[in-house]
Amino acid sequence: MTTATDAAATPATTAITHIAGLVTNDPSLGEGPLGLIQDAAVVIDGDRIAWVGETSKAPATDNRVDAAGRAAIPGFVDSHSHVVFAGDRTEEFNARMSGRPYSAGGIRTTVAATRAASNNELNANVARYVMETLRQGTTTLEIKSGYGLTSEDEARALSIAAAHTDEVTFLGAHVVAPEFADDPAAYVDLVTGPMLDMCAPYARWVDVFCEKGAFDGDQARAVLTAGQRHGLIPRVHANQLSHGPGVQLAVELGAASADHCTYLTDEDIDALAHSDTVATLLPGCEFSTRSPYPDARRLLDAGVTVALSPDCNPGSSFTSSMPFCIALAVRDMGMTPDEAVWAATEGGARALRRTDVGRIAPGARADLALLDAPSHVHLAYRPGVPLVSAVWRGGTLV
Ligand code: NIG
Ligand code: FE
Repeated sequence: MTTATDAAATPATTAITHIAGLVTNDPSLGEGPLGLIQDAAVVIDGDRIAWVGETSKAPATDNRVDAAGRAAIPGFVDSHSHVVFAGDRTEEFNARMSGRPYSAGGIRTTVAATRAASNNELNANVARYVMETLRQGTTTLEIKSGYGLTSEDEARALSIAAAHTDEVTFLGAHVVAPEFADDPAAYVDLVTGPMLDMCAPYARWVDVFCEKGAFDGDQARAVLTAGQRHGLIPRVHANQLSHGPGVQLAVELGAASADHCTYLTDEDIDALAHSDTVATLLPGCEFSTRSPYPDARRLLDAGVTVALSPDCNPGSSFTSSMPFCIALAVRDMGMTPDEAVWAATEGGARALRRTDVGRIAPGARADLALLDAPSHVHLAYRPGVPLVSAVWRGGTLV
């Protein structure tokens, strides 16, 4: 018998046994929507899950890791981050906590710091946040550009992001670049023309911040459809600070996800419920901007697929912690612990249109987190406690 630490030299097959409660997210493997298995074992072969079941039925393997009654969950799938940046916005946060409201304007502070940073500095920052998320159980991380806002700076951000993840998103339309403050239409022309030509080869997704103070519905449509013509799939920052056209546009264009979804009409919810567009909720934003949380209960009751993400960025939500978001979603957004854990794993995978992550099932990538707790419910029950005690990504203990 070896411990989790001994397993670092990954043999061909490894069984993790005596998992108190295993969340598989595959209802055919266990109980309920989480496919929960008690006293479970998982067999890893190379970078894939080879077998899942009860410990007593586990096949022989080259190595065994005794989970000793800890719970295990799929690695978190974080479908929304802005971690290519330099500097921070401590002063803006301080002012906000003294009563000043959040606005999109602060993004320009980070744009200036990011443009001034070297490639090495930006790359080191991304590496640091990727490692920070990994330690907290996140094994898939989407990364956006959006703090460059010139063709060169956006392409640079995307090429750095692409060195760390396959899930790269072009967000040249984060806000209008300062140089174009008097001519937003010309900035949209730049984003949909030369900037997209330079950036599309690095990205899988195209995103836009559809909001007052950023881009209106027509501008957002122009950005997303131009991205589609370059083979990118849309996702939208929608209805974060006010009611607006973002969610309806996301659904109309078949976006993978509408993110934020804080201010929703009944029509918005109905549109999401009758679409394949996931509603990705980002409660770190409402926490860090002292704003009302999105109503996850209303979305779930209407049949909308919900994902959770920390939205790690230096302005509205400077947290990389999915467990923190799970706790907020349960405490303040009407989600059950089961729903929140699902949203942070399988929900994120749906928002990225991935079937190989977000679940622990034969054939899936071997991404899982062991918790220093007997149940996944402790992620909400013990807020702020670092429960993630071991993480495998692609079969390797990290
Ligand atoms: O998702 N809403 C737009 N973008 C980020 C915030 C970026 C910033 O304030 O720097 C978000 O909240
Ligand atoms: Fe965001």
